[in-house]
Order: sequence, then C-alpha cells, then structure tokens
Amino acid sequence: MNESKPKSMSSFWMPFTNNRDFKANPRLLVSADGMYYKDVDGNSVLDGTAGLWCVPCGHAQPRITQAVSEMVGQLDFAPTFQMGHPAAFDLAEGLMDYTGHKFGHVFYTNSGSEAVDTALKMALAYHKARGEGGRTRLIGRERGYHGVGFGGLSVGGIGNNRKSFGPLLPGVDHLPHTHNLLKNAFSRGEPDFGVELADELERLVTLHDASTIAAVIIEPVSGSTGVLVPPKGYLKRLREICDKHGILLIFDEVITGFGRLCTPFASDYFGVEPDMMTTAKGLTNGVVPMGAVFTKRFIHDAFMEAPAGIELFHGYTYSGHPLACAAAIATLEVFREQGIIDNAKALQTYFEDALHSLRGLPHVIDLRSIGLVAGIELEPIAGKPGARAYSAFKKAFADGILIRVTGDIIALSPPLVLNKQHIDELFGKLATVLKNLD
Ligand SMILES: Cc1ncc(COP(=O)(O)O)c(C=O)c1O
Repeated sequence: MNESKPKSMSSFWMPFTNNRDFKANPRLLVSADGMYYKDVDGNSVLDGTAGLWCVPCGHAQPRITQAVSEMVGQLDFAPTFQMGHPAAFDLAEGLMDYTGHKFGHVFYTNSGSEAVDTALKMALAYHKARGEGGRTRLIGRERGYHGVGFGGLSVGGIGNNRKSFGPLLPGVDHLPHTHNLLKNAFSRGEPDFGVELADELERLVTLHDASTIAAVIIEPVSGSTGVLVPPKGYLKRLREICDKHGILLIFDEVITGFGRLCTPFASDYFGVEPDMMTTAKGLTNGVVPMGAVFTKRFIHDAFMEAPAGIELFHGYTYSGHPLACAAAIATLEVFREQGIIDNAKALQTYFEDALHSLRGLPHVIDLRSIGLVAGIELEPIAGKPGARAYSAFKKAFADGILIRVTGDIIALSPPLVLNKQHIDELFGKLATVLKNLD
C-alpha cells in the first residue's frame, strides 16, 4: 500500500472541492477500518459522515471485502446487455426481499446520478408506453439534490449547481422547500410546521394540467442541502396528490436508503410508498460504485406490453458489474446477520440527545436530526456565506473527526456500526470546535 504523500497534486482536478485551498493544505486519507480513517501522517480520524454517506456497515467490513476479492478472481467483468451473470439476478432477488417485496424490479446503474436520470427516463417512457405521451413535465423541489446528470440537475434545486450549466431540461418545475427556521428550529424528528407546503403540488397541477406531468421526485429527507426533515404528514399528502392526478412519485433514497433513518428505507420510516426509488451509496457499503432504481411492478409491466424486442432502450456498460453485485449481496447479508439497523435504532435517542447538547454553543442557530443523521446550522459570517462551516470542517479534521459541511450547515451521518463512545467522541470534539470558531 502506498501511504506516502503524492509526488504532485497538480493533475487531479478534484470534484466539489476548493482545489487551490486543498492543495495548499491537503487532507489525505490512506486507510480505513471500522469507524476510523487513518491519514497520511498516521492520525486516526473518526468518520462522522460514513465517507460520503455511503459506508453504513463500517470500513473494511471483512465479509464485503472477501466477497469482492473472490469475485474479482472469478468474474472480473460480464456484460448485462443481452447477457447476464448469476450474481446480478441473485442480488435483484435479495433486494426485493430486503424491501419486503414492495417493489417488483430493480435496474442497476453505477451512481446515484445515473439512478436519478434512469428513473426520470423510465417515468417519461412509462407514460409513453401507456399512450399518455403528453406527460413530459418533471417536478422537483427547491434545495433538492439529485446528482449531477442533466436530468438530476434540472429537477434539483440548488442554485450553485444549476447556474453554471444551463440551459437545463425544459418543462421542469419545482415545489418549495420545507425548511423553516422561524417555526421549526431545534425540532427532533419531523417538524410540526409545513404540511400544507405539499399542497403546492396542487397549484402546479392547476398551472400546468395533470395531463402534462410525468413525475414528482424528491428526497424524503434532503441530505446534501443540509438535512432538511419533512414536516409531519407532508410526504403522505404528496403521495395522495400524486395518486389523485396519475403522477408518479419518485423517492430519491440515495442518502436515506440502507438504514440511515434506522429503517431499511425512508419510505419505511414515513410509511409512504413511492412508485420508484433511487438508491446508491450504502447499497454496496461504498466499496464498489453502484446505483439501483427500484420500480413497482406496474411500471415494469407497462413496458412488457410492447411488441417483442428491447423494452427499455437504456443501460450502462457497468450496469450490474460483478464486483458491485458481490459487494451488494455481502452488504445485504451484513445488514441482516449483524443487526446493523437494530444497532442504529438502539442509539438513535443517545445520538439525538448528544446533538441537542450543542444548543447554546456559539453560532448554533438550529439542530435537527432524524435517525442517525444530524444537521447543525450555523449563523453565517456576514458577507461570507459558508466560510464559518468550512472553517469548522478544517478544524474538526485537524482534531480527528470527519464532518461534512454544506453552506453553513454541518451534516453528520456516521456509519451505523458506531457505539456510544463514538458518539461521545464525535460530539465532544465538535463542541470544542464550535467553541473555538470565529
Ligand atoms: C439524494 C441524492 N441523489 C443523488 C445523488 C448523486 O449520487 P452520486 O454522487 O453517486 O452520483 C446524491 C449524492 O449525494 C444524493 O444525495
């Protein structure tokens, strides 16, 4: 293993990174095990973010590592266009079991962004297949993040993400976001205020006419824009309005899927079933890139009515890659056999209490959490949005904890295999960081 510093850092154009600042003061990780990373100087760093929300079972999980090693020696690659390999089918059955057979089929991608664009394309093609080709409009939500493909960017609602890359898809509209610090600050779980914001969908239906709308896509809990928890009853009401108007409802569970809310999926937590669900990240415990779109049976079946031939003209070279399938099958086994969700559930209240112990620290204007995800919103420095949280991120890493920041919000989403000592360490060190922030 190469644990030495790179000879040069100039050629790698880093994603979503302040490249110049990073390269002046790099943070280099060289190994990982369980709840900890090790940096290039040999320091341990507690992983407060499960990598990028994607390592629920902890790092270097032996079962997953072994499954991938075995597969790479057995079947390094196999196409899934007009071909197949057993692990892709086994995984699909395993995933149907894991979702309690609420979905009928799964389509593989390599990332969350691809899962989102796949789901949007499926929604359009589904309506066309049924003779409702006029349903081409897609509805997203402000402050939604759905990855970086043109479909995901278009339905997403992050100004910075959108402004450089236009024009985006036409015929897209957005629901308002539900974040309301005046009414909902310091909520635990779902906030009380805001269910009526779901009725904005009725307004969009009136404006555009239901016959033009294919699908609504939202994150049940917005992750990347700062842990925005839906108001009580909000998702249920959205579901009702979609049903009333024949609009497909897509939950983007790239972050919330695979245990983040201490249930298998957010749809289980909220008791609301979408027609399609996009996933990635925790699906393979982050070990091999993979995404997946889950669809209700009726969506898949609409495509099977077509004359014989390729039913969905879509796919990726690496859809159902053998290594990703091996990692995902092993991840499902680990979830089931090692009680990952039970562990998370048992720690939910302890985690929430630890979070709310930060109340009253300098600059903290909101604390919110659901399952094992937490948002800490800081008062921005006047004229320098994001600077305060970025400084917290850098100080935290120097103190041995990995946190994630978006704007002036700190997001925490540790691996679900943590224990109380890890929670104490994470929030203890974070409190020190916050006390010493400018
Ligand atoms: C809700 C959601 N959708 C889609 C994506 C995009 O996933 P990826 O980065 O794997 O393309 C993300 C990534 O964070 C996400 O949080």
